[in-house]
Amino acid sequence: MKKIAILGASKPHLPLFLKAKEMGLETYCIAWAQGAFCKDYADHFHDISITDKEAIADLCSREHIDGIISNALEPAVPVMAYVHEICGLNGISVETARRCTDKKLMRICIRDSKACMQPDFEIYDPNKCISIRMPLIVKPTDSSCSNGVTKVTTPDELGNALGRAMEASSNGEILIEECIEGAEVSVESISFKGEHHILTITDKETTGSPYFVETAHHQPSHFPVELQAEIKDNVKRILNAIGIDNGASHAEFKITPEGKVYFIEIGARGGGDFISYELVRLSTGYDYVKGMIECALGTFKKPVFGPQKHSGVYFLSEETSYIRDFILNNQNQPWVYDFHMDNGPLRSLRKSQDRSGWIIYNSDHKIEINR
Ligand SMILES: Nc1ncnc2c1ncn2[C@@H]1O[C@H](COP(=O)(O)OP(=O)(O)O)[C@@H](O)[C@H]1O
Ligand SMILES: [Mg+2]
Repeated sequence: MKKIAILGASKPHLPLFLKAKEMGLETYCIAWAQGAFCKDYADHFHDISITDKEAIADLCSREHIDGIISNALEPAVPVMAYVHEICGLNGISVETARRCTDKKLMRICIRDSKACMQPDFEIYDPNKCISIRMPLIVKPTDSSCSNGVTKVTTPDELGNALGRAMEASSNGEILIEECIEGAEVSVESISFKGEHHILTITDKETTGSPYFVETAHHQPSHFPVELQAEIKDNVKRILNAIGIDNGASHAEFKITPEGKVYFIEIGARGGGDFISYELVRLSTGYDYVKGMIECALGTFKKPVFGPQKHSGVYFLSEETSYIRDFILNNQNQPWVYDFHMDNGPLRSLRKSQDRSGWIIYNSDHKIEINR
């Protein structure tokens, strides 16, 4: 029986545990005990922080683990890369993981490789004037989930934006970027030994300026096929430049009203917000989670797609309070895949964690809400 180590055990990661069991694997759950919802779904549980790379590598060597996996969890990316290298497992390198989790290194890599158009950027230096023209985007180089990302339109907003970015940052480095106006998409892919498979493109709705928290995702994208082909070509060049040769990835782009495509960022992991755990499978018929596990074990097979459908998720928050009525009025519709509403007042969106509920749909057409 092959053995797989799974990093992270909070509730959203349950599909990974269920799939590994369905595949007949012996599962090792690695996470802090507190909040480790999935630990009861694994054969073994190890109360180790998912960032303790040495302890995890020791465990994987000792237990002769065949593959290590996580998903939609940015802090796990460098740790998995370390374990891949120490234990000779299939996955990305430490160098690639650094480029994926440090937005400065990512921007430099894409600039130097000319893989794709991207916003002008510079690292904030309090002793120098910012050379990029307003409006700007201010963000930490090492955060995720829109934490500390702010649009700055006038000089008097800069101080507050720098403070937010600094608060969300661990390394104290802040990126200043040209602000690209337009629609936003993400691209969901899986790679194996350097061969890339683009699975689908996701259209996003966000709160927009100034905090850009995502409020809905829809697959497939509504953009014309020629533009989608251009985006997919960009993704393949980006994956090659950054060095993502194995595993899931999630790349984000802005598309201007003139149809110009700008790279925002890429993660060496599947997208959160149900994108990789649910939406890809629902819209393409491809079992993405199984593919990720097979990739980690080195037994990956080329993706086979099922009937194409539409899938999506709407998130409930103060800004999207109409979603509550939408859920209440539609919860019994056949296209509702799942939904959830927290008790208590709705929160205003500053980051993804402020959301108060969600509804996932799966249908032969896009489900739209009349607001
Ligand atoms: N240069 C930019 N121009 C316009 N919008 C941006 C830019 N950079 C980031 N954003 C917006 O902010 C969001 C979060 O920024 P991102 O770089 O993806 O950081 P995170 O890792 O927190 O997701 C993006 O999804 C996008 O909506
Ligand atoms: Mg992002």
